[in-house]
Amino acid sequence: MKNTFESIDIFAAKRMDGKDKLKSFRNEFINNDPTTIYLDGNSLGRLPNRTIPFLDNVINKEWGDDLIGSWNKSWYDKPYRVGNKLTKIIGAKDGEVIIADSTSINLFKLVYAALRLQSGKSKIISDSFNFPSDLYVIQGIIKDFGNKHKLELAQSEDEITISDDALNKLIDEDTALVVLSHTAFKSGFTYDIKKITEMAHSKGALVLWDLSHSAGAMDINLNDANADLAVGCTYKYLNGGPGAPAYLYVREDLIEKLESPIWGWFGDQDPFAFNSEYRPAESIKKFLVGTPPIISLTAIEPGLDIVLKAGISKIREKNILLTDYMIYLINTILVPLGFSIGSPLDSSIRGSHVSIVHPEAYRISKALIKGIRSDLKVIPDFRKPNNIRLSVSGLYTTFEEINRAIMLIKDISDTRFYETIAIPREIVT
Ligand SMILES: Cc1ncc(COP(=O)(O)O)c(C=O)c1O
Repeated sequence: MKNTFESIDIFAAKRMDGKDKLKSFRNEFINNDPTTIYLDGNSLGRLPNRTIPFLDNVINKEWGDDLIGSWNKSWYDKPYRVGNKLTKIIGAKDGEVIIADSTSINLFKLVYAALRLQSGKSKIISDSFNFPSDLYVIQGIIKDFGNKHKLELAQSEDEITISDDALNKLIDEDTALVVLSHTAFKSGFTYDIKKITEMAHSKGALVLWDLSHSAGAMDINLNDANADLAVGCTYKYLNGGPGAPAYLYVREDLIEKLESPIWGWFGDQDPFAFNSEYRPAESIKKFLVGTPPIISLTAIEPGLDIVLKAGISKIREKNILLTDYMIYLINTILVPLGFSIGSPLDSSIRGSHVSIVHPEAYRISKALIKGIRSDLKVIPDFRKPNNIRLSVSGLYTTFEEINRAIMLIKDISDTRFYETIAIPREIVT
């Protein structure tokens, strides 16, 4: 069903906020600056209020008072326990998810393990939209395996979507593994996990999904899709904090078949037996490596609790409404000014962000952050070569904010305010 909107008027936006069933969740997050509209939750989610006492407890009580005793009380099992909480958000079973390391490292572990399991097959399929780190990890592994594998990338015809056909043409009986970002970091295009998994399985290939831009923003059901493997980060729509540890998922029946390439002591059956010979844990714990980062791991849990309380289907429903509304405003207000939309118009194949394309995208992004007046700034992010990425989170983004953000882009374009911005690019965009 396509959403329709009554008007571009700010009062219409306020009315939609008034009817929003998730509106109280905005108060769950730190939001001290009413002059700044934050549309970058797909890079770094907001700080939940309840994270602060959680961290205070882990620092002052568990570390400060209880010291090493906290490992036995609550720390040792935390990667597994928090992983089980995440299973409820991504449609997995308890015991199929563990929190560990970064997304890139988890991807390394699973790609490596999958290629070992699929030895004899030489192709790895991905797409030209995949996040660079994912492609770099695969390229490094190919080199390490003696250049016996070939990475082939499905290409887009419109720079917004990848057709099933483009993938289908590349996946064959020689394909060991398909590695895809579920939601593309630039255009926001989203795959149908079930359909692509079935397509790959029919040729004997495994599929590894990177859920970084999806988990917490849309309903995913890995078990229903019979998904093999997945990884993702917790600092975007799960609001786990900068550099928060990532997660990996392995379907139950694959756990015993896959071997982690990094044999660390936390992946052993009994780390505190200090045996000299490694014996991998007979569970998802075999994919742990070293000591878990307890403080940042603790910071993940409040964000997961908020998503579970709001309900992932309700969050997705609101995210669709917010992004549909944004597209309606862009089409009505910005397209006549020379902007175009670099994201799918169909919400069923779109994640939770919308890319606006303009030749001056970099300077317009910077102008939004600077603001024309002191009472309104917008935080988007910029992705090369010409994308202004605006992301929404149903937990804290309002319709009014979207309206004000699009109007500010219009003002910046009308006044050519972006011409006052220096060209050199900052390190983090
Ligand atoms: C889709 C995707 N995959 C992987 C990564 C890399 O994650 P990490 O830095 O945790 O390794 C990112 C980072 O933003 C990402 O967006």
